[in-house]
Amino acid sequence: MKRLFALAALAFVLTTPAAFAAGETVEIDPPAEGSVSQAAGLEAWDRIYEVASHPRCSNCHVGANNRPMWSGPAYGRTRVHGMNVNAGESRIGAETILCSTCHAYREGLNDTPHAAPQVAMNWQLAPVEAEWFGKSSIEICNQLRDPERNGGRDMMDLATHLDHDLILHWAWNPGGGREPAPYSLQEHVNDVLAWGVAGFPCEGD
Ligand code: HEC
Ligand code: HEC
Repeated sequence: MKRLFALAALAFVLTTPAAFAAGETVEIDPPAEGSVSQAAGLEAWDRIYEVASHPRCSNCHVGANNRPMWSGPAYGRTRVHGMNVNAGESRIGAETILCSTCHAYREGLNDTPHAAPQVAMNWQLAPVEAEWFGKSSIEICNQLRDPERNGGRDMMDLATHLDHDLILHWAWNPGGGREPAPYSLQEHVNDVLAWGVAGFPCEGD
């Protein structure tokens, strides 16, 4: 396994600059303080929710049962990840079989339908606090604006995290017949910034 880790790390170092050079870098340009109304902020949130609840995101943003999901039209029906995969508390499968055993980065592999999706960084479940699968708009909204449950991130941290995370670049360009997340990564970042400038409104505030 050590060798596998070393190879994965090497692949990450070698491929990261290329992945960013592929023209997918996003601009982080927040609207001026006070320029986004609460209503416009809520509209931005509705679009953010469409993204967060999309299978390309929610399949990994699952709860404490540590089971990734297979859902969305490309999977036909909604079910837990096959082959009895369980990410364990480590969220990377350290207790049983590492996610990276199958989700290992090799260029071009995402073009093959039903191959294990992969990016040039560790494939793993999102933290339990960021459980989105099957959650309502209000539930996800309150989680994402809560630094106690969003990895301690403010608006700029959220936006830059979105840009720096290669998994997200994959979600908008998954290949293999999978449906991409809605809008674009740039539009999603813009919506997060607008929602933040509006003061992170959620329905029912
Ligand atoms: C392969 C699994 C995977 C997929 C798919 C995935 N994420 Fe994540 N997500 C993670 C992991 C792992 C973290 C924790 C990373 C960290 O904190 O640095 C995370 C954290 C986040 C965070 C940080 C805030 C929080 O609440 O923890 C945001 C925002 C986020 N993801 C958005 C998305 C969006 C939007 C999509 C779809 C476009 C998506 N993710 C798809 C694994 C995934
Ligand atoms: C034995 C190989 C194998 C292991 C181990 C494995 N996966 Fe997968 N995974 C796959 C394959 C193959 C697919 C695609 C199945 C398909 O498209 O029909 C997949 C798909 C997924 C998807 C769906 C992505 C999407 O939105 O299209 C998620 C999420 C996922 N795996 C997470 C994980 C996590 C987290 C782990 C570690 C706990 C893991 N997998 C371990 C083989 C594996």
